[in-house]
Amino acid sequence: MTQINKNTGSEVEQVGKKERERGPGAMRVIVPLQGVVQGRGGVVLGSIIPCVLFYFLQLYLRRNRSSPPEPPPAESESQARSSQRIQRTLSRSPSRPVFVSSRAAHMSDREDSRYYLGWKAYNDDPYDAEINPHGVIQMGLAENQLSLDLIEDWLESHPDALSWGGAHNMPLSIRGIAGYQDSYGMPALRTAMAGFMGDVMKASFDPSQLILTAGATSAIEILGFCLAEPGNAFLVPTPYYPGFDRDIKWRTGVDLVPVPCRSTDNFNVTITALERAFNQTKKRGTAVRALLISNPSNPAGNTLDSNMLTMLLEFAREKNIHLICDEIYAGSVYDSPEFTSIAKVLESGEFDKSRVHIIYGTSKDLGLAGFRVGALYSYNDKVLKAAKKFARFCSVSSLTQRLLIAIISDTQFIQNYMSEHQRRLGERFSVIREGLKKAGIKCAKSNGGLYCWVEMANLMPSFNQKGEHKLWERLLSEAKINVTPGSACHCIEPGWFRVCFATLTDHDTIVALQRILEFSKRCKPYPQ
Ligand SMILES: Cc1ncc(COP(=O)(O)O)c(C=O)c1O
Repeated sequence: MTQINKNTGSEVEQVGKKERERGPGAMRVIVPLQGVVQGRGGVVLGSIIPCVLFYFLQLYLRRNRSSPPEPPPAESESQARSSQRIQRTLSRSPSRPVFVSSRAAHMSDREDSRYYLGWKAYNDDPYDAEINPHGVIQMGLAENQLSLDLIEDWLESHPDALSWGGAHNMPLSIRGIAGYQDSYGMPALRTAMAGFMGDVMKASFDPSQLILTAGATSAIEILGFCLAEPGNAFLVPTPYYPGFDRDIKWRTGVDLVPVPCRSTDNFNVTITALERAFNQTKKRGTAVRALLISNPSNPAGNTLDSNMLTMLLEFAREKNIHLICDEIYAGSVYDSPEFTSIAKVLESGEFDKSRVHIIYGTSKDLGLAGFRVGALYSYNDKVLKAAKKFARFCSVSSLTQRLLIAIISDTQFIQNYMSEHQRRLGERFSVIREGLKKAGIKCAKSNGGLYCWVEMANLMPSFNQKGEHKLWERLLSEAKINVTPGSACHCIEPGWFRVCFATLTDHDTIVALQRILEFSKRCKPYPQ
């Protein structure tokens, strides 16, 4: 590093002295005209002259460059000046693509599964009985609009729940909602939610073990962050909810290992299949950290009984892994056998609870998917402490929390709502099952969920995944019906589809069934 010595002169002189000692070659690089302008002043002049020449050259080039295009008349003078400056900059250096992370590049290039492609097709051409009667009918989205009128009626008869104002006693008082809250949910909502879950799942829940998140999606992802390292895996019986691939894998780096279930077992998981998947994953060098089940199953629509749940608890203990039970459709069981929560099973025996976690939310049973309220209930203190911190990134807005507290604290309303919701679901399922039967399509035995799991292998051009995809495409483009193909749910048997039925009105259900019936008549049955 060059030091300035006050006794011997300036920095330039110091450099010059050193360079003279080293020889002339290196000096010419720094002061190119020193050979032309001799003497002590040569050092200074030799630096200045090239700079002046370079400046005049720039000036000359600028004057002689063709003038930039006229700015549009609406532009102000300063805008015009800045756009000229930008054009000059652009003309000097060719534009190259700016850096984005490998994460972003990977996400943007990712191929969407047919589950999402079907949504897109619906969004591009949505059916509407009056405005667009030939549009796509959405039967690929597990949304619940069957009982929304009940919530509407409740809101109408409880105008206080939506009352604004400054007073503290108003439910939506600005002072009660404007500030920061616990990011994992207001104490009042956690208490109300624990009570609500208790009523729906017929078990008891402690609000201190409950974390509220922006939808069940976030609760599931938090478990991915808490229970496994990137590269570890969760076992998931198939067919499974296609969103798990996105919700768990995308950001946590946790992998999902499908555990195949078969039609001969009505798509119920078996311990043999779990053992096989666990051992094969271990053999590949991947650590399994959890078993993830949805009960009632999405998409198969069946429920797990207490015997099966006990076996799963035993399997998790033996393999020393976690058990995650996604019970988001707990209140949507419309037929026997009735729903059994893992929380109820834990109450009935001596189990290691610290490995059990429950997912719930208001998106399905209450039809409030847009509220984005999910719940993570855990029996593990460490997971709870970490999850409270992770919840910072997925809190529910105070406005939503306050409104939800009012709705779910009305226990009489919730009780009436749930029984009517289940009655309507059962009725709709019967209509769908009978309508599909007329088209030669069979539904799997199910008792819960907002969908049914149907076999259409006889309508496929070939009995393989390609044939399934072809049929899905034809259903979408010809019958204008969007359903979810089993391959998007990792089903190993071709020909199964998830058909959601809780988004449609009674009239639209008839239209959808009519379209499927006519389409099935046009299809050549397999084998041809
Ligand atoms: C089994 C299951 N878990 C979680 C979710 C996500 O729920 P949310 O919309 O509350 O994030 C869904 C939504 O379809 C689901 O089917």
